[in-house]
Amino acid sequence: MKILILNEKEMRSIMNMRSAIEAVKEAASAYSNGKTNIPLRANLNVKEYNGNSLYMYGYVPDCKALGVKLVSVYPDNPKIGVSACPATVILENAKTGEVSSVMDGTYLTRLRTGALSGAATELLSRKDSKIFALIGTGGQAESQLEAVLAVRDIEEVRVYSRNFENVEKFVAKASAGKSQKFIACKSSNEAIDGADIITAVTVSNDPVFDGKKVKRGCHINGVGSYTPEMSEIDENIVLNAGKIIVDTMEGTISETGDFLKPMAKGTFKKEMITGELGDLVNGKCKGRESEDELTFFETTGSAVYDLVTGQKMYEMALEKKLGKEIEIA
Ligand SMILES: NC(=O)c1ccc[n+]([C@@H]2O[C@H](COP(=O)([O-])OP(=O)(O)OC[C@H]3O[C@@H](n4cnc5c(N)ncnc54)[C@H](O)[C@@H]3O)[C@@H](O)[C@H]2O)c1
Repeated sequence: MKILILNEKEMRSIMNMRSAIEAVKEAASAYSNGKTNIPLRANLNVKEYNGNSLYMYGYVPDCKALGVKLVSVYPDNPKIGVSACPATVILENAKTGEVSSVMDGTYLTRLRTGALSGAATELLSRKDSKIFALIGTGGQAESQLEAVLAVRDIEEVRVYSRNFENVEKFVAKASAGKSQKFIACKSSNEAIDGADIITAVTVSNDPVFDGKKVKRGCHINGVGSYTPEMSEIDENIVLNAGKIIVDTMEGTISETGDFLKPMAKGTFKKEMITGELGDLVNGKCKGRESEDELTFFETTGSAVYDLVTGQKMYEMALEKKLGKEIEIA
């Protein structure tokens, strides 16, 4: 059995953001058409080491994508110089069940999460969008920026997060070699003022910008909140958006405080969600209908996006003859 091993450096040279956006659109389409088998993720507690090991697995027949993403959450790891959240994707040959590839799951997650916002931004934001506000400068931020730059002709990028030093560092790195004007912002109000597209990718339990100050016609991506306590998006956005699109209905409606908090107050109902990204791709729900309409995309992630993007990455690596092949049997 031959297994192709792919690290981040190789993966960066194999698949660009544009290809990743096409991969997640294909995954979204299959998911919303009911042509995927994505069981609930399994969770094992490893109490001796204060850890949790999560198994996100599934099968997408049309893309020949079969496998699992292993994500571990070990909060004490940084004390010994190890990531608190290591992730690995293991793919199988759908015909034989043999493992075909093992790849860096942290990078794949960043790429496909950026690509999800990219796909939603391409389908929902105004075509003449020029100003992009990025809130959050952590591990996911770089690919979120790349995704918006891949789908719109952005002229100005505003960046804000809790720690201004981190904002400045992020801006210095991210702006290198780019034609856009980058601005390190000291407040979220400064970042979103007049912005055409806003992406929030934070670990915040409270709204990270004032929804009432958002420009008419703005498109917003909510990427960070994935527990009932977390809610980075102002309720004003959720309640006033003309269209609300989610990556998976099942995940977002049961996981994110962006929806669960207004639902608990009785101001928001599941029926207010327009549809899934796949419905939009499949032409089964409407996207933006006017230049003034506020559009909102919420993602909490799903194995379907990891497995399809991972399988495409593997196929492209074979074509480009990249990666390291090992033989274990
Ligand atoms: N939707 C998905 O599929 C998906 C995939 C991966 C990660 N995520 C989630 O995205 C979030 C961000 O991930 P990360 O790896 O970049 O995290 P990180 O810890 O590396 O960075 C978090 C960022 O949030 C900022 N922040 C926190 N509170 C803030 C506030 N009140 N105002 C402004 N900025 C604030 C921090 O300053 C930091 O820049 C996490 O919650 C993660 O679980 C979602």
